[in-house]
Amino acid sequence: MKKTIIITGGAGFIGSHVVRLFVNKYPDYLIVNLDKLTYAGNLANLKDIEEKDNYTFVKGDIVDTTFVQNIFDEFAVDGVIHLAAESHVDRSIANPIEFVMTNVVGTVNLLNATRTKWKDNYKDKLFYHISTDEVYGALGNEGFFTEETKYDPHSPYSASKASSDHFVRAYHDTYKLPVVISNCSNNYGPYHFPEKLIPLAINNIKNNKPIPVYGKGENVRDWLWVEDHARAIDAIYHNGKIGDTYNIGGFNEWKNIDLIKLLCKIMDEKLHRDPGTSEKLIAYVTDRAGHDLRYAIDASKLNTELGWQPSLQFEEGLEKTVDWYLANEEWLNNITSGSYKKYYEEQYENR
Ligand code: NAD
Ligand code: TYD
Repeated sequence: MKKTIIITGGAGFIGSHVVRLFVNKYPDYLIVNLDKLTYAGNLANLKDIEEKDNYTFVKGDIVDTTFVQNIFDEFAVDGVIHLAAESHVDRSIANPIEFVMTNVVGTVNLLNATRTKWKDNYKDKLFYHISTDEVYGALGNEGFFTEETKYDPHSPYSASKASSDHFVRAYHDTYKLPVVISNCSNNYGPYHFPEKLIPLAINNIKNNKPIPVYGKGENVRDWLWVEDHARAIDAIYHNGKIGDTYNIGGFNEWKNIDLIKLLCKIMDEKLHRDPGTSEKLIAYVTDRAGHDLRYAIDASKLNTELGWQPSLQFEEGLEKTVDWYLANEEWLNNITSGSYKKYYEEQYENR
């Protein structure tokens, strides 16, 4: 194998797309998926590639220092693409400490392990940290986040991600660890855990349940097709400048309520319901505490330097997403029933 890359959080939403892309595109790389399989980790996301020779899965917790060191002893690691995180803002409001542990302590454990292993020879090594636009805080009605925007996180989730970004930069500045960071806007697409807005709304519309819209639905998010994020990660991993940051976004801003109305229209068509049926399910609920008004990314650096751009229009991507969820009822039902947790035992523990 030409390279060994550890992808952390590879059983999650975005991680599974990154693992799939790398395993299929680079048959001469060994891809090690390191994941704790929290509620958000689901190995069924990777069923189509799990038998490939250049893929292996390791179950473990990045907060466990000994476990992390052992992994770096077991594999001759050339690169880390670090996606493992607690990722849901609402959960961070309910339980911030888990976010500190995984997102901050877990990241520092990985930085320490790479530094220890690589310190005599950094050549061709890379620690790639995947982060979010939420570290920049909230925008008003105008303007975009650029790579120079000052950090101003508001939720425990974004504060923990901001902290991890600072540690990654500190390891570059202090120890010269070869790092790169990207900060991406909201992703959508297949395998999105159904407590996040889009899959939750699809599932509720399908089951004729209320669609909870926080506040007045006026918050704006910049949505990116998840496979476009994976392609950006591929470009940055291979051609990004060491020590740099890249913003990734869709130039695709939607008010939550407009997005939900578009989704309702698509669902009415797909489920052969009368126009306007699904919209009746919209239920305005109490707003999220500290709810950031607007996120919008300026991704022009990534476009100019590495030639990346989003591949899909949102209307097309949203329809593809709906089609995927309607065609993959079993995947969704296994999550809502909790039985997806058994997949690991059936697939791996009895081998
Ligand atoms: P996710 O919650 O779907 O997946 C996270 C994965 O990390 C899961 O498989 C989980 O089991 C694993 N994990 C959690 N704690 C762990 C631990 N202690 N040790 C090992 N594995 C652990 O998240 P996602 O939406 O795929 O996000 C992936 C990354 O991308 C995160 O770092 C997130 O901050 C970032 N990001 C997400 C978005 C988005 O829209 N979802 C946007 C920008 C950036
Ligand atoms: P979410 O998918 O949780 O992503 P993030 O908070 O990381 O941007 O939420 C997207 C937007 O949708 C956010 O403005 C909060 C809002 N939202 C709702 O209105 N209702 C919901 O049930 C959820 C989960 C989110």
